[in-house]
Amino acid sequence: MPTSTAAWQALTAHYQATANIHMRELFAADPQRFDTMHETLHGLLFDYSKNRISEETLTLLCNLAEEIGLGSQMQAMKNGAKINTGENRAALHTALRLPENAEPVLVDGENILPKIHLELDRALAFAESIINGVHTGTTGKRITDFVHIGIGGSDLGPQVCVQSLKAYRKNVAVHFVSNADDAEIARTLAVLDPETTVFCIASKSFGTPETLLNAHAARNWYRDAGLPESGISRHFCAISSNVDTARNFGIPADRVFAMFDWVGGRYSVWSAIGLPVMVAVGETRFRELLRGAHAMDEHFFNTPFRRNIPVLMALLHVWYNNFHLSDGHTVVPYSHDMRRFPSWLNQLDMESCGKSRTAGGQPVAVSTGGIVFGEEGVNCQHAYFQLLHQGTRLIPCDFIVPMTTPHRVGHQHRFTVANAFAQAEALMRGKTQTEAEAELANQSEAECTALAPQKTFPGNRPSNSFLIDKISPFNLGMLLAAYEHKIFVQGTIWNINPFDQWGVEYGKMLAKTIEPELNLGHEPKHDSSTNGLIRFYRDCQER
Ligand code: F6P
Repeated sequence: MPTSTAAWQALTAHYQATANIHMRELFAADPQRFDTMHETLHGLLFDYSKNRISEETLTLLCNLAEEIGLGSQMQAMKNGAKINTGENRAALHTALRLPENAEPVLVDGENILPKIHLELDRALAFAESIINGVHTGTTGKRITDFVHIGIGGSDLGPQVCVQSLKAYRKNVAVHFVSNADDAEIARTLAVLDPETTVFCIASKSFGTPETLLNAHAARNWYRDAGLPESGISRHFCAISSNVDTARNFGIPADRVFAMFDWVGGRYSVWSAIGLPVMVAVGETRFRELLRGAHAMDEHFFNTPFRRNIPVLMALLHVWYNNFHLSDGHTVVPYSHDMRRFPSWLNQLDMESCGKSRTAGGQPVAVSTGGIVFGEEGVNCQHAYFQLLHQGTRLIPCDFIVPMTTPHRVGHQHRFTVANAFAQAEALMRGKTQTEAEAELANQSEAECTALAPQKTFPGNRPSNSFLIDKISPFNLGMLLAAYEHKIFVQGTIWNINPFDQWGVEYGKMLAKTIEPELNLGHEPKHDSSTNGLIRFYRDCQER
């Protein structure tokens, strides 16, 4: 239990002694604060100086990581130990981005690297054959559209990459369909030509109902277009660890790309699940994405905690979540192309760390997880940032800011960057009553008295800034991997398993009971609320 460590006790006392220190004071006392509280890695700048910490806080947090045994857990993950205890599996997403000639990684005594690279090469070759027109539709036409059907981890990772890497896009349009709400598949199909479209059914289990509903809709649409059954193999492919079921769906073996049971859905974009990214940006760029993630892995596994970016990110989260009792965490990419990043992180963090039992099945000792949300900057400044600045809640913020964009529309990019920096500064500094009054010097005394309190900001609101030179595949790979490792470190400190997700299953199970009841004549037998909802649905159908 983290609470039984000496470091936890020391952090509790340290929190009480320092809780009221303002970051303004910390910056004023140490003009070199930025120098000692930022890290760089292959052009990525991680500035964590705008946090409510001192060198002593960092020492204590690193002590906590040591005492918990983080180092040996990191090695266990890297070496393929079955750290996903709930499912008795390894968690080897890091192996997916290892070079082929790396030291062997053994799972049940077998080196998995040859298999990984075989599947990767197969997927990349298929993607390239679509891009360069070698793989055509059944009527010989060039493929123009690729529709990726998947949900959760089988959707968000590839989606954030395809969208973020728009500047590198090749000639095939990539679409995503995830929702069971038929509006999404209907609207997607409405603009496509079956002769020039390839569908990819992506499901680790090949049993997720949302994905299978959309897959059947796509297959029916293909058939309804009068195209030959034999052409299915040219228009459908699958990614799954349940290869046999994918074949039973009608997809031939050479169009099924294997996932491995030792990679969790939300950690899987580095596997064949990355196929839409491969189709969108091609082999060279996808390999750069893998190289970026691998560079972050190398840093994570080989850097002392005090200088280790993902470890620091996680320790800061623990500091706020468990000592300052923060109310959530927001992530803000100052990039329109990266606007799906918060959704990706929302699943990665909340599905991984939303646990109230330890890995061993005991109730957890401390609050775990956190409410993770976000929106692209600058839009969020005109939405929920008011609450961050002047609300009563503490919500640390991650700013992700590319230093350049491929577009050169006026000075819009400079404006965007300036806003990111300004928000971080405003959150940190706040505005005192005296400063507010000085701003209102031209107003009457009555107006000044009334308005000054409204215009004060408490400040002391923490943030991290991640600056990258541009949204390149390599940088994106580094960023995604940094957050993956952050989640792992948090899970290790809280003593929970961040690689399973039993909580999602119960609702799925109940939906299976309710769906047939929506059509039945007899009275539903649930609580009065659920019965009322079912009856209202039936009435609407009848009307
Ligand atoms: O949402 C629950 C979940 O199990 C996720 O963890 C997973 O990423 C998603 O469903 C999709 O699962 P599959 O890839 O098996 O279709």
